[in-house]
Amino acid sequence: MANTSGALLSEQYDVPEEERVQIGRKRETYDALVQRLSHQSVVKHFDAYADVPWDDPDYRIDPDDPRWELGPDDSLGGTAWYRAQPAGVRSRIGLHMYATFMKIGVEFESVLKRGLLEFAAKLPNGSPEFRYAYHEVIEEAQHSLMFQEFVNRTGLDIKGLAWWQRIGARQVIRFARTFPELFFVFVLGGEDPIDHVQRTLLRSGRPVQPVLKRIMQIHVTEEARHLCFARHYLKRNAPKMGGVRRFLMSRRAPFILAIMAQLMMRPSGQIIRTYGIPDEVIREAYTNNPEHRRKTLEALHKVRELLVEIGVVTPSSQRLWRWLGIWKSEPAVA
Ligand SMILES: [Fe+2]
Ligand SMILES: [Fe+2]
Repeated sequence: MANTSGALLSEQYDVPEEERVQIGRKRETYDALVQRLSHQSVVKHFDAYADVPWDDPDYRIDPDDPRWELGPDDSLGGTAWYRAQPAGVRSRIGLHMYATFMKIGVEFESVLKRGLLEFAAKLPNGSPEFRYAYHEVIEEAQHSLMFQEFVNRTGLDIKGLAWWQRIGARQVIRFARTFPELFFVFVLGGEDPIDHVQRTLLRSGRPVQPVLKRIMQIHVTEEARHLCFARHYLKRNAPKMGGVRRFLMSRRAPFILAIMAQLMMRPSGQIIRTYGIPDEVIREAYTNNPEHRRKTLEALHKVRELLVEIGVVTPSSQRLWRWLGIWKSEPAVA
């Protein structure tokens, strides 16, 4: 008889003691963790239209709303050039930046969803990762609906990825099938920095426009599960990689993270052109700004530490991280 009983299937995927992962203070098997995350997706999930009151007058997107303005602690918001702009330009630049990050979110999540479907397609029957991956696909689809609705309601025609970035995106989708460890580094590279930025803004106490606040609250709640899964997938599987994969991962991961951080934390070319932001202001705010570098390093902190922990950062690949400007000098690599 075919092996279709739930009990037999779960036994089939039981994890030996040495593969158990430490989660918080209690020990839990990898499969139990994945099942718990899937259960959380059932008891705590959001719908892009039922859970965001788009038509509430308080949620209306007004480009002149001063709450879109970048604060003095923002890399661009802190420049004398930005502060000298009329109020309507300051709020529009802020809104344009939020809308661009949402559009990048739609593009990133599209790659993520297609990659997760490729990843799930290779899983055997009974794998708890299959159910988890589908929950994540569904949640990312709700996020993308939310992000695109925000973009549409700004009235701004935000451009998506450039052609060379689309070619890179197709590669990443392929990795989900052929090199899932690298795919999940890409996942963390996209999710961790934006999660950090959203949590920082929610905690800052600054007045945040209600629709933006609601979107960020929903997003950080569900992303916590996605980050947890990606981290534990890597903790479990990266140490089993062979020498060639480990080498490829150590060389590709810093490039992926540097590109993702740049996309998520700097204004697009469209914004620079639309508002005529001078080159020297971009250099002052981003390229030559130690405070911006500190923020970028902080946003990448968790994923960088994870890659050190799982042995993907080697003394020789550390040079690449430094060259790309995403290495913090303190933590030493054995
Ligand atoms: Fe998301
Ligand atoms: Fe996510």
